[in-house]
Amino acid sequence: MIKTEAALKERIKELTCLYEISSIIGDASADFIEDTLNNILFSLKKGFQFPLDTNMTINTEIYNISTTETINKSISINANITVFKELKGTLFVCLDPHKYTLKDFLHEEQLLIDNIAIKVGGFLERVAIQQNETSLKRQMEHADRLSIVGEITAGIAHELNTPLANILGFAELLKDSLKGSLNEKNGDIDKIIDNAIYSREVVKKLMFFSCKMPQEMQLINFVPVIRNAIKLLDATFRKENVKPIINIKGEDLWLKADSVQITQILFNLLMNAIYFSPKNGLVTIQASETKKNIVLKISDEGKGFIKEDLPKIFQPFFSTKPIGDGAGLGLSVVHGIVSSHKGNISAKNNIHKGAVFTVILPKN
Ligand SMILES: Nc1ncnc2c1ncn2[C@@H]1O[C@H](COP(=O)(O)OP(=O)(O)OP(=O)(O)O)[C@@H](O)[C@H]1O
Ligand SMILES: [Mg+2]
Repeated sequence: MIKTEAALKERIKELTCLYEISSIIGDASADFIEDTLNNILFSLKKGFQFPLDTNMTINTEIYNISTTETINKSISINANITVFKELKGTLFVCLDPHKYTLKDFLHEEQLLIDNIAIKVGGFLERVAIQQNETSLKRQMEHADRLSIVGEITAGIAHELNTPLANILGFAELLKDSLKGSLNEKNGDIDKIIDNAIYSREVVKKLMFFSCKMPQEMQLINFVPVIRNAIKLLDATFRKENVKPIINIKGEDLWLKADSVQITQILFNLLMNAIYFSPKNGLVTIQASETKKNIVLKISDEGKGFIKEDLPKIFQPFFSTKPIGDGAGLGLSVVHGIVSSHKGNISAKNNIHKGAVFTVILPKN
């Protein structure tokens, strides 16, 4: 009679605990997963015969939650946690090894934790679905935002083009008319011209970025395009005390591309490489071909990227340069051009020092 009463008491405890855990999971939010798992364990503890001497832990790839810091699994029972039919973790219930043996666990207790493990798996599935939905929503919002930014910038760039050309044109006329007369205003006019040229470059990049530039695809030889771009940047290389090293096998690397846009890729990558190079640094330009692609690698000996910046460098308006030195548009222009050529661009840190950009462009 006493035995039946004890068994009944145990059964009631287990049922209460199951009910409690179901409510915890029902109310749980995907934002507080660890708290939820913790609450589940403390409720579960109460369902066991010797709650004070029983400790438990949930171990998954991501979470390790225990009712005590020093968990000893030598006397324990366990149940697997599966998420979308895949084994993702284990629930262990452990008894104090100094006082108990495995026989002190009831058969019902194993059934109880099997049941709870299923519930925890279900909860983790729900969390995964929710997180997936949030990430999808974020991606869509991001794409939306980018296309809106694209539209707006295209509009602004277009509107600014004509007045900027006017500022530049009239400033040059004024400069011409003041030629010969030694006037301190000459320096001011040069500043107007320099700033107008800078703004025109920004507008040009904006137009590239929002893909409002017509594309002319032709069969071109990449090698002279590279040599030409480096020649055009010769003054910049010299001024910054940086040396270009060209590493190309042969003189023929043919591909179908827009040569103006390809030059734009080279300019932007080289300008960045020069900017971030130390004095007497080397910028290596390497080009080669595979069966289907042309591969361009531009590396420098500068400071490279910090880990957090790397995912952002191709985003429009991301720049670590001081204000006035960069608009953060160069790499997004490059990215846009490479994508429109159905190619691929990636960036990483060199093994020793500096950054390396790899551009892959299909030959056809
Ligand atoms: N070679 C490089 N070494 C280290 N960091 C680089 C390098 N190239 C680009 N970056 C990082 O990527 C950022 C974005 O580059 P991006 O060319 O898009 O813009 P920017 O050079 O800052 O401005 P803009 O090109 O519009 O003048 C840079 O500000 C810098 O933080
Ligand atoms: Mg740049």
